[in-house]
Amino acid sequence: MFESYYCEKLEKTLHFLPDGVKFCCSCAEGAGIKISDFSKFNKEDIIKAKKKYVEFLRKGQLPKECSGCIEYKKRSIKQRIKEFFEKPVETKISHIIVDHFKQCDCNCTYCSQTKFFPSKTQNYELLPIIQQLYEQDMIDTENLKVEFQGGNISELKEFEDLMNEFYAHNCDDFVILMNGIKYIPILERIGNNWKSHICISLDAGTRETYKKIKNVDAFDQVVENIKKLRQHSKAQISLKYIIIKDVNDNIEELEKFLNIAREIGNIEPVHLEIDYNNTLLAKGIKFEVPKHYYELFKIAENYCKENDLGYKVFPYTQHILDQGYSI
Ligand SMILES: C[S@@+](CC[C@H](N)C(=O)[O-])C[C@H]1O[C@@H](n2cnc3c(N)ncnc32)[C@H](O)[C@@H]1O
Ligand code: SF4
Ligand code: SF4
Repeated sequence: MFESYYCEKLEKTLHFLPDGVKFCCSCAEGAGIKISDFSKFNKEDIIKAKKKYVEFLRKGQLPKECSGCIEYKKRSIKQRIKEFFEKPVETKISHIIVDHFKQCDCNCTYCSQTKFFPSKTQNYELLPIIQQLYEQDMIDTENLKVEFQGGNISELKEFEDLMNEFYAHNCDDFVILMNGIKYIPILERIGNNWKSHICISLDAGTRETYKKIKNVDAFDQVVENIKKLRQHSKAQISLKYIIIKDVNDNIEELEKFLNIAREIGNIEPVHLEIDYNNTLLAKGIKFEVPKHYYELFKIAENYCKENDLGYKVFPYTQHILDQGYSI
């Protein structure tokens, strides 16, 4: 039977990259357009491209950029007919991903950014574009969520200005991914309503392993910064541990990391991840999940339960764990 698809992210997201925009952040290539000169950025190009993708999906055609994605949903015939005749394509943005900068103050061995964007030069400033989007009423101010990826925000010169621009429009829903090497006072302002989320990738339980992974000797400093931020911010703070084969994939290291999360307290959640170099980025190379990884995930889950810490695994990673190998 003729099928129709729908992707919520596609209609609502604008993901800024160094060389263009995407309309999602997905494990697939993702729908989007290349932009070589951001001084010519305009909303019409964005709306036109989004409409093209939405219409493809509504007709039951899966663009190649969406192939392999787990985000799109099938629509029933009834929903499809209703949508076709009644529902205009959503053009207002309620999810902005700030990911146009790749500068960083460390050099993680696993970092996927260096693979896709080896140049750390920032191609354009985002602030004027965000101001333009607000002026043109392109942003759903009631529901806006802003996510910072990167790069690391401590190295993004316009970070404070961007935050102030979003604050000025009453946005208080942020997701911030960072390494925590530098303390950033403006983060203390976010999240007085427990909506916002700061995720720090610590990835180790000891100074030596941290140095091996991040190529900087900053473990103690990061732990101190997390403690300080926990004291001064009302945002949800999560700690990430990316399991890297033959580096931190052992119980001793993980337990030391978990002890730190417990000592800091109020960590929501502890987030375990498998190095994407083994999964997402290893296109075509099957990765059998080693048996001891299951033990690590189980130890973390139990530890978090016993110590009142949140625990999280992304659906994509859970899927790989369930089937025992990467796709
Ligand atoms: C590129 S980082 C930028 C934010 C920040 N510098 C950080 O490290 O958290 C964005 C997110 O991607 C994750 N990431 C990067 N490379 C990865 C990999 N090979 N496997 C799993 N996660 C990865 C990081 O942990 C982080 O949460
Ligand atoms: S279906 Fe997946 S790849 Fe396509 S726009 Fe949606 S999230 Fe992005
Ligand atoms: S801190 Fe983040 S951006 Fe920097 S090298 Fe590590 S993963 Fe990449």
